[in-house]
Amino acid sequence: PERAVRTRGAAGYPAVRPRRLRRTPALRRLVAETHVAPAQLVLPLFVREGATEPLPIASMPGQVQHSRDSLRRVVVEAAEVGLGGVMLFGVPAERDATGSAACTAEGILNVAIADAVAEAGDAVVVMGDLCLDEFTDHGHCGVLDTRAGHAGEVDNDATLEHYRAMALAQAEAGAHLLGLSGMMDGQVAAVRDALDAAGHEQVALLAYAAKYASAFYGPFRDAVESTLTGDRRAYQLDPANRREGRREALLDVAEGADVVMVKPAGSYLDVLADVAATSEVPVWAYQVSGEYAMVEAAAANGWIDRRRAVEESVLAIRRAGADAVLTYWALEIARWTREDS
Ligand code: PBG
Repeated sequence: PERAVRTRGAAGYPAVRPRRLRRTPALRRLVAETHVAPAQLVLPLFVREGATEPLPIASMPGQVQHSRDSLRRVVVEAAEVGLGGVMLFGVPAERDATGSAACTAEGILNVAIADAVAEAGDAVVVMGDLCLDEFTDHGHCGVLDTRAGHAGEVDNDATLEHYRAMALAQAEAGAHLLGLSGMMDGQVAAVRDALDAAGHEQVALLAYAAKYASAFYGPFRDAVESTLTGDRRAYQLDPANRREGRREALLDVAEGADVVMVKPAGSYLDVLADVAATSEVPVWAYQVSGEYAMVEAAAANGWIDRRRAVEESVLAIRRAGADAVLTYWALEIARWTREDS
């Protein structure tokens, strides 16, 4: 027979007292369901072609566009504090219609990947952003459709050819993992094919599977000096759609993704929980530039406790199901972890 839950104790006092386990820091630590370890954090980094010193990014206080030298230094630091990885973004000096600088060994992103690998070896996972938006003069994530009646549209299948070439350039530069963030249909399969055919079958693929057309990417556009006018709603997901996030993740795994990601993170924890509940591959989440900027701005005004807000925001993303988190606070959180232990 089912035992009735005893909710009333002697003299009408509560018999069930969840507060018992919250009483001391040691008790709370012992029963914590979720932890954030440095190895679960990935630091996104920007490197600007021609920069001779780190250049501050106004809308992301504390973040910079790195020079090649400062990038090398921060990659060493990332390895020293035990971060899981670094995700590199290039800011090229010249852009063109097809983003050709993304696909050459001299292109800034490929140079930066090679620098990072030369500096850190295998001590930290070196990842490259595989998307054309930083390299095209129009700022879209792919090449534009040249057919009559399709002005301004991104040509999905033509873009895949460029992604294949970009993937080979990043693999040849030594990247351990490529982050496919362009949201073209079939991009995972196309890139996997290209890599395998060229003997790069060990390079792993992270699919930005559920990447939403979000206002929270605003500061990132500053960080990479984006030239985009308009938006990406014709290829990134509609924020209204939850089920579609799961569908994208399933498709990407079927195409050969080694890891799937949900992005942004904080406003999409439901999607993240859905994907995490069914995924057979690791699930990551990207706490994006706008999420970073909001906390920094509120903290700078004294409206919230900065460290607590930072830690809570990343903990929540882990709790919702992310195995690892891309966050601009990765280094700082890792340093706090060290200080505390
Ligand atoms: C595309 C890309 C973007 C971000 C990561 N990769 C921009 C976009 O899709 O508009 C955004 C990351 C952030 O906001 O922190 N290369």
